[in-house]
Amino acid sequence: MSRERVLSLLRESGGEYLSGEAMSRQLGISRAAVWKAIEALRQEGYEIASAPNRGYRLQGAPDRLREGELAGPLEGCLVGRKLLCLDTVDSTNTECKRQAMAGAEEGLVVIADEQTGGRGRLGRTFQSPKGCGLYLSALLRPKLEPAQVTDFTAWVAVAVCDGIEAACGVRPQIKWTNDIILGGKKLVGILTEMGLESESNALEYLVPGIGINANHRPEDFTPEIRDMATSLQQQLGHPVRRTELAIQLIRALDKMYAGFPENKAEYLAKYRADCLTPGNQVQLITPVSRQEAYALEIDDQFRLVVELPDGSRKALSAGEVSVRGMYGYV
Ligand code: BTN
Repeated sequence: MSRERVLSLLRESGGEYLSGEAMSRQLGISRAAVWKAIEALRQEGYEIASAPNRGYRLQGAPDRLREGELAGPLEGCLVGRKLLCLDTVDSTNTECKRQAMAGAEEGLVVIADEQTGGRGRLGRTFQSPKGCGLYLSALLRPKLEPAQVTDFTAWVAVAVCDGIEAACGVRPQIKWTNDIILGGKKLVGILTEMGLESESNALEYLVPGIGINANHRPEDFTPEIRDMATSLQQQLGHPVRRTELAIQLIRALDKMYAGFPENKAEYLAKYRADCLTPGNQVQLITPVSRQEAYALEIDDQFRLVVELPDGSRKALSAGEVSVRGMYGYV
């Protein structure tokens, strides 16, 4: 779409004037089409100055998650080489899986301003109000066996902490396995899904889905989760630019994926440093049981090693149980 490409060029020019003629040459479109795209962007709230003989200059932009804002800064990344930015969707994970089944290449990132059916783990819903959060899923097709990706979601958690730190200057923590916590409350949810080839059971695709509470105010959460959930805006005391957050998150995912699974030592060390679960009394929750345990450490397969009341030890894998702190959410 010319509008996205014109926006990309204006962004790349770093606030310098760019002539309509130069843009029409670079994009292979008419000057009238450039002008139309500029007008459409202005309608959307972009402040674009124009000066005779100099052209156009971007002066201010609304915080809209769109291809024209993201494509330039993500050049060279595999994750994010194709972007699908939607106003609204049922779930970015579901859309990513639909794209996967229709044959899309790996690297596609689906982002939405709002999810009407955001999904969490264990069949829960993930509240995804319009304009507040960053709801994003990536389509990956690693050439690995399903058994080799069991710890992938823990790697994603580290990449999410890296991305948030790069964008906002604060490093959140991880509640095993992959809830991201800031100020003792949940900031990010991660849901990683995979598709297997039905006959051979080979891994067809992997879709990590990430929901970051960016600019939610307390009233943007329903009363049931208001005490457990937080947002970057609430923790930092000012709104964050979701565009910058998306760029840093996708770059961190791209770097992580480029080193998966070879860079295990690096990601395991970071995971251990970020994870706040060891050293706490926890409840192990399955659909049919609840049991108390003491969380000891993260082993070298990203499993949580716990001590049970009878003194025995057990290593828990992601997906097997969910862990809840005994004193509050963490
Ligand atoms: C959880 O906390 O249980 C996981 C929540 C995962 C939410 C994200 S938002 C983007 C992607 N799309 C979804 O429907 N879910 C994930």
